[in-house]
Amino acid sequence: MTNKERVFNLIKDLSKDINIKEKKGLTAQEIAKKLNLRRNVASHLLNELYKEGKIIKINTRPVYFLDKEVYEKKAKEFKETAKTLDSTVKVSNDDPFTKLIGYNGSLKTQVKLCKSAASYPPNGLPILLIGNTGVGKSYIAQLIYEYAKSIGAIDENAPYVIFNCAEYANNPELLSANLFGYVKGAFTGADKDKPGLLEEADGGYLFLDEVHRLPPEGQEKLFLFLDKSIFRRLGETGNWRTAKVRFIFATTEDPEQTLTKTFLRRIPLVVNI
Ligand SMILES: Nc1ncnc2c1ncn2[C@@H]1O[C@H](COP(=O)(O)OP(=O)(O)OP(=O)(O)O)[C@@H](O)[C@H]1O
Ligand SMILES: [Mg+2]
Repeated sequence: MTNKERVFNLIKDLSKDINIKEKKGLTAQEIAKKLNLRRNVASHLLNELYKEGKIIKINTRPVYFLDKEVYEKKAKEFKETAKTLDSTVKVSNDDPFTKLIGYNGSLKTQVKLCKSAASYPPNGLPILLIGNTGVGKSYIAQLIYEYAKSIGAIDENAPYVIFNCAEYANNPELLSANLFGYVKGAFTGADKDKPGLLEEADGGYLFLDEVHRLPPEGQEKLFLFLDKSIFRRLGETGNWRTAKVRFIFATTEDPEQTLTKTFLRRIPLVVNI
């Protein structure tokens, strides 16, 4: 039996005994514990089952899942118990990408790749979006983030941080300081410790726009993070910091010409929009 089947069977089984008045469903945490899975694995499988229309998702905090048949039988009871609850119950699959014009036509392949970048367990895959200005790179990046939330790959309140590398392209130090943070005295004007965008994006997404403007020094600093999820603030010695950040990169330029080979090697998905 696959883990997904185990999750489905357990949800079916436990849903029968649920007293709606006391508890709206089962959480990913409970399922994970009972099946000895990691929470994010259980969450991923539960969301897949929900996408397939097999189980019900209740978008409260925490998110609850329930067997569809049990829900249908008890729907009336649900409504009586909590008047607002019904609006938070998601029975059908609402895929954020359906908002994108061409999602089922000219952009179908691209959407598929974006979805795999978001859903690849356990932490997704870095993705580079290439295309001329106005083709929808920034919009698609936002949809990848929303999709990751909708399938439970990241938390409902996970951060989405946007950084345009062109802003500090002529000042690599300031660019690094923004991305990685710094400690007091790291450079002139660094009068207190400051976390960077990596820390801000922990648990969610960092969208690095116009990444071709990221100088080689900056690309190099990102290697280590992409490889090992460790970093230091500027001027920091001693322990490494860690963060769990998913990356989306975008560029209007030919990446082979503008990005270093070592950097490109670390981006498994490259998508032309
Ligand atoms: N396929 C699409 N469906 C719906 N709206 C789209 C689509 N493509 C682009 N748009 C809209 O067009 C506008 C421009 O898109 P966006 O800003 O994402 O382009 P971009 O590739 O990031 O451009 P730039 O390189 O200038 O940053 C936005 O308002 C976006 O919502
Ligand atoms: Mg853009």
